[in-house]
Amino acid sequence: MNELTQTEVTMEYIQKVASILSNKKYNIQTMGCQLNENDSEKLSGMAEKMGYKYTDNIEEADLVIFNTCCIRENAENKLFGNVGELKKIKKERDMIIAVGGCMSQQKHIVEKLRQSYPYVDIIFGTHTLHKLPQDIYEVLEKRKKVTDVLDIDGEIYEGLPIKRNSNNSANVTIMYGCNNFCSYCIVPYVRGRERSRKFEDILNEVKDLAKEGYKEITLLGQNVNSYGNDLNDEKSTFANLLYELNKIDGIEIIKFISPHPKDFKDEVIKAIKECEKVHRVIHLPLQSGSDNILKAMNRHYTKQAFIELAEKIRKEIPNVAFTTDIIVGFPGETDEDFQDTLDVVERVEFEQVFMFIYSRRKGTKADTMENQVDEKIKGERLEILKQKVTEIIDKKNKEYVGTIQKILVEGVSKNNENMLTGRTNTNKVINFEGDKELIGKIIDIKIISDHLWYLKGEIM
Ligand code: SAH
Ligand code: SF4
Ligand code: F3S
Repeated sequence: MNELTQTEVTMEYIQKVASILSNKKYNIQTMGCQLNENDSEKLSGMAEKMGYKYTDNIEEADLVIFNTCCIRENAENKLFGNVGELKKIKKERDMIIAVGGCMSQQKHIVEKLRQSYPYVDIIFGTHTLHKLPQDIYEVLEKRKKVTDVLDIDGEIYEGLPIKRNSNNSANVTIMYGCNNFCSYCIVPYVRGRERSRKFEDILNEVKDLAKEGYKEITLLGQNVNSYGNDLNDEKSTFANLLYELNKIDGIEIIKFISPHPKDFKDEVIKAIKECEKVHRVIHLPLQSGSDNILKAMNRHYTKQAFIELAEKIRKEIPNVAFTTDIIVGFPGETDEDFQDTLDVVERVEFEQVFMFIYSRRKGTKADTMENQVDEKIKGERLEILKQKVTEIIDKKNKEYVGTIQKILVEGVSKNNENMLTGRTNTNKVINFEGDKELIGKIIDIKIISDHLWYLKGEIM
């Protein structure tokens, strides 16, 4: 089946459902990363074309979609809790419950849902998201339960409806799946192998976004540095993509997550340096600073190589900021290994660190390792790491005071409704006083004081 045909089939089912339904509401729970969020935007786009209106009150929804994540165990527990809560509503009235996303790709989850949560109507996977309208149609017309999960890698379907979460800033997935098989990680099993979108399809999407008034885009992929490796043409590389996107009028900020340190080529550093719209914050996932652990994690770099990469990038792009992901308590992690992680944190001076306690995932290599770390030690290491990160952020924030930052005004501050909020091009939150009419505009802000989790500024 070619791409156009499948999208057309989806559109046909959207029409069919729309002709049966009227006055219905949907709610969607997005439980994972930004790729998962981008999928939710497509699911919402399809739901709205079927005639559903969004409600944030799950109790009054006629369709509830759970777009799940299984990266860590707590994500799983949350899903079962949430689905369990809908049982009583479902007894009282018609409601379609759909569970999709990464968790649904796991056989034991599908079995558990089918056995213990029989009132779930639809289970769909990461490769069958575009079939939601068809699945809903089957439930409505044939009154049956649908399990629609594919084990093989899905194709890429362009042109599905989309309802974006923001009017200024847009997620743009450039590739699906992952080939890296880091030994702790479930993603390659639930998202399949790397598949890159066509270069032109990405450019066209971003050009359309610019026409619609979007100013900021975030390019998404599990390893954006390997964009194009599966396309077999010279043009389709991540560096070239940055150059081409940088030329698009109207787009002013280009972000991307995540690059893998092992694949960070010089040409990408050069592209970031030469493309003035590319954000000066690079998310460089460290995971661990210990050579032994990095090897067991299958990360393909050493502590030294990581530090040298960060130094090389900093030399080329002096105002760059680094953020990272770190896992504590990977099997076999000793105090010494953990000290190596703290050492890298100190030397690279990350400005934001997403810290995770290692979580065992069924089916991954690390889950079978015998030297699992005690939960208490994991917790203690997390606290020590948090303390170190806080010290560094505090120090780095002080360097911003007195500087002038060009920012996109994102909206009203979450913690204070009299303040507006935006981010530096190194991703630090800035809060400042200003008229709500500024939302969506790019303005200059002078930083006047530093606080642990944000900077305070004033309009120039
Ligand atoms: N592809 C991205 C990561 C996606 S998952 C990358 O390589 O950077 C986001 C983060 O979740 C990972 O960077 C890792 O730090 C964390 N993570 C993944 N699997 C985990 C596990 N089993 N336990 C704890 N944290 C995990
Ligand atoms: Fe997981 Fe590693 Fe792939 Fe990231 S690169 S998604 S951590 S396997
Ligand atoms: Fe993302 Fe979670 Fe899936 S992190 S790719 S939603 S397992």
